[in-house]
Amino acid sequence: MYLYQNEFLPKEQVRISPEDRGYYFGDGVYEVFRVYNGRIFEAEGHYRRLEKSARDTRIALPYPIPQLNERLVELIRLNELDEGIVYMQMTRGEAPRSHPFPQAEPVLMAYCSPLARPLQTMEKGIRAITMDDIRWLRCDLKTLNLLPNVMAKQHAIDQGADDVILHRSGVVTECSASNFMIVKDGVVRTHPANHLILHGITRDVVIRLAGQLSIALQEEPFTLEDLHTADEAFLTSTTQEVMPVISVNGEPVSSGQPGPVTRKLQQAFQQLIS
Ligand code: PDD
Repeated sequence: MYLYQNEFLPKEQVRISPEDRGYYFGDGVYEVFRVYNGRIFEAEGHYRRLEKSARDTRIALPYPIPQLNERLVELIRLNELDEGIVYMQMTRGEAPRSHPFPQAEPVLMAYCSPLARPLQTMEKGIRAITMDDIRWLRCDLKTLNLLPNVMAKQHAIDQGADDVILHRSGVVTECSASNFMIVKDGVVRTHPANHLILHGITRDVVIRLAGQLSIALQEEPFTLEDLHTADEAFLTSTTQEVMPVISVNGEPVSSGQPGPVTRKLQQAFQQLIS
């Protein structure tokens, strides 16, 4: 079952107009929620970010967050989802193609799908390559305009890697669909939550866990140079949790094995969700 506006419908009955602004312009915002044991993980953080994306793009939520939450909880129940994700998007609505904002009713759609935790990959780690961050200057908004992100991801795959680490003139920002952190001399470093990165919910969780574990963490810009001399590296996201990065541009990160700080954070994350 899908949630379409205020109704639960089978996928086949969801009808999106060819004049939907999401289709023409990528004019919409979205969220990806994690579901563990049938419950939405860190729901408040996702709703706060959705409200910000909606406010800054001036797309009105069709109903208030508590109601949206009720609908999403019902969606999970109807689909008997235990472990997976809820994908939710909202476009500016349907109108003949013209750039100014139209008088239109936003179109909200959500579905859920089962997704196992990437346990094996989290054990082994992934390989990344670096790439110029060619995105716009509002990466803090979770909008449907993901062409630079999908191109970046495909570039990684074409090069035989798993993901990209993006940088602006040598300053590391994030990955194609995740935030990025390095560890140097026991200190975790990650780009500050400004307009150049998405303010990841998993990033926030990791910052919280680092505090609880008395692991030092700096939200300060760091460079490719810092990356190449890092002791550990990992990315964070709703679907990938805390994912070790074991090589960058074909060179191993330190020993080429997930490091001890990454492992501690993974364990703490595991405890939090269980
Ligand atoms: N991506 N940065 C970018 C560019 C992202 O697209 C995402 C999430 C993140 C991590 O945010 P969070 O921890 O809240 O998932 C960082 C989602 C999962 C996606 O587009 O599929």
